Amino acid sequence: MIDKNIFLRIINNLSDSIIENKELLNELDRPIGDSDHGSNMVRGFTEVKKKLENVKESDFSTILKTIAMALISTVGGASGPLYGTSFLKASGAVVGKEELDEKDIIAVYEAVIDGIKYRGKSDKGQKTMLDAIIPAYEAFKACVENGGDLKKASDEAQKAAAEGVEYTKTIIAIKGRASFLGERSIGHADPGATSSYIILKSIASVLNE
Ligand SMILES: Nc1ncnc2c1ncn2[C@@H]1O[C@H](COP(=O)(O)OP(=O)(O)O)[C@@H](O)[C@H]1O
Ligand SMILES: [Mg+2]
Repeated sequence: MIDKNIFLRIINNLSDSIIENKELLNELDRPIGDSDHGSNMVRGFTEVKKKLENVKESDFSTILKTIAMALISTVGGASGPLYGTSFLKASGAVVGKEELDEKDIIAVYEAVIDGIKYRGKSDKGQKTMLDAIIPAYEAFKACVENGGDLKKASDEAQKAAAEGVEYTKTIIAIKGRASFLGERSIGHADPGATSSYIILKSIASVLNE
């Protein structure tokens, strides 16, 4: 179960992980974008940490909505509205919940993926964040269906996201700035898939503490 305490640790931890990886994310965005993915994300998650102070007594849904608004208003770039939409959809998936179990997390994944697909007019195999998030979701769900708990499923999700990032190196970008490069985008990992992996890895590490 994810209770309020664990939930707040997850949000703080994933924000810190993004902040620590600013240079890596900017570097990944250099060859196939405009070198700003790390800076964009750090702006967003610095604001998230600030806003979190004001809403930490609120319910999950309010907190996630506050995060969404912080990201939408500060990130800029394509990733801002996409991550903003993710947290907004997650917020809608946890209304009224005081604890989150495996099934709730599956519902959150589904809401997030639908939100990104809709907002980004994108799908897996296009060299975007979805190439980390969708395999993570599939691995999480498969693990839970085989009796795995939250820790195990989050670990499997994190591993699948890492493989998803590797996979983005092998494919052509169809969406976003990287798509301007066509075939020349091959050989480079997608920055957004990498930031999604960093977030999923940080969630798994809090759950395994
Ligand atoms: N249509 C889309 N659907 C899903 N993800 C996308 C889409 N367009 C871009 N992205 C993600 O956004 C990332 C780029 O984010 P960022 O560099 O912050 O924005 P920008 O491309 O505007 O500079 C990409 O690596 C990719 O993962
Ligand atoms: Mg960029």
